[in-house]
Amino acid sequence: MVGRGGRKFIFLSRSGAVSQEARQFLAWLEGIGVQATVVKGDVASKQDVERAVNGSWSTIKGVIQAPLELNVSIDLREKNLSTNPHDLV
Ligand SMILES: NC(=O)c1ccc[n+]([C@@H]2O[C@H](COP(=O)([O-])OP(=O)(O)OC[C@H]3O[C@@H](n4cnc5c(N)ncnc54)[C@H](OP(=O)(O)O)[C@@H]3O)[C@@H](O)[C@H]2O)c1
Repeated sequence: MVGRGGRKFIFLSRSGAVSQEARQFLAWLEGIGVQATVVKGDVASKQDVERAVNGSWSTIKGVIQAPLELNVSIDLREKNLSTNPHDLV
């Protein structure tokens, strides 16, 4: 999206930009002249989504919904296997 001219982004996630990877990514965006705002919230919460939308600088031209929910944890627990999604690959 940046390669195609996107210069303003709002990221919504439950944890916000707490990980080192997330902070590095935001620093990289800033370094190339991209404005990014991180909103801590849940996409399933109307109030959180409204907060993200109301924080927008201008008309929102696109939305990407990326969360993935895995519904396999109960089966994995029964089999004494890890429930960490990153261990599934
Ligand atoms: N990884 C792959 O190889 C791959 C391949 C093909 C397709 N995909 C698809 O790409 C998408 C992202 O995959 P990924 O591997 O990047 O997953 P990921 O690392 O778990 O990223 C998901 C993102 O969504 C956020 N999120 C999850 N639930 C949320 C909620 N309720 N409200 C707000 N934010 C939420 C997470 O942050 P928080 O947990 O902080 O909320 C995280 O930033 C998925 O739809 C997946 O099916 C992934």
